[in-house]
Amino acid sequence: MMKKIFEQVELNHISLKNRLVRSATWEGIAEPDGGLTEEAYKIYGELAKGGVGMIITGFTSVMTNDFYFDGMMRLSKDELIPQYRKLTDLIHRENCPVLSQIALGGYYRRVPDGRYRLVEPDDMTVEEIHEVKDAFVNAAVRAEKAGFDGVQIHAAHFFFLSRFISPKVNHRADEYGKDTEGRIRLLLEILYEIKEKTPELHVTVKINSSDFTSGGLNEEESLVVCKRLAEEGIDSIEVSGNGTSVSGILYVVRALAEAIDARM
Ligand SMILES: Cc1cc2nc3c(=O)[nH]c(=O)nc-3n(C[C@H](O)[C@H](O)[C@H](O)COP(=O)(O)O)c2cc1C
Repeated sequence: MMKKIFEQVELNHISLKNRLVRSATWEGIAEPDGGLTEEAYKIYGELAKGGVGMIITGFTSVMTNDFYFDGMMRLSKDELIPQYRKLTDLIHRENCPVLSQIALGGYYRRVPDGRYRLVEPDDMTVEEIHEVKDAFVNAAVRAEKAGFDGVQIHAAHFFFLSRFISPKVNHRADEYGKDTEGRIRLLLEILYEIKEKTPELHVTVKINSSDFTSGGLNEEESLVVCKRLAEEGIDSIEVSGNGTSVSGILYVVRALAEAIDARM
């Protein structure tokens, strides 16, 4: 039987009153530490009141030292939990589930002069890769404490995880590279540990259908990755046309990242 857009639907651990989902949209309205502004509460309150079936928050960084762009929400510290609890409470009042899009713009290593420098996957130590995994898992644990119904692991749009799984960027020769399985090892490790620590959360991944760049993740490999995620217990997948990377937005994001870099 054909399903209708305004019909209720059950996904793992969540119930949607209709099938309209607000896809993650970075609003640039958080404080530098990831704290929420009155504007953030207003935007999300209005979205929920509008009757959407589910909301996925904008890009929420899992690390404090992620300087990729300004105004990102963050779930990188326990002290932020009450502010996010207030957000989920006001959305839940409208009978609307909400997922936090947990993400990392880039990995920044602290260098001896005290500044932070963006480090690409090829140049990271295994210890640093594990630090990223822990940051994602800890953010999911905080999301659960803050009342979110689930998390979306952002592995799209050429941000950190998207770059890590892309053959264009990741040329590592160790267990975190070499082939598809190696490049998605970190993503799978994040998934396993989030499932273990927060079994009640709906866990979804956002992934590019293709990087739309030569030597990048293509449709065939993206499909393989989606199948592997399904085998390993993902609850749902949002397949993206990588819109933000191929459109002018990428240049805006890059320019912002460079401007922030220059200030440090
Ligand atoms: C202003 C703006 C901000 C966005 N912020 C995010 C974001 O924080 N996280 C994300 O995954 N996608 C973000 N997107 C991308 C959209 O969610 C969506 O993926 C994109 O418009 C392309 O659609 P598609 O994914 O169906 O190809 C943003 C898009 C716009 C226009």
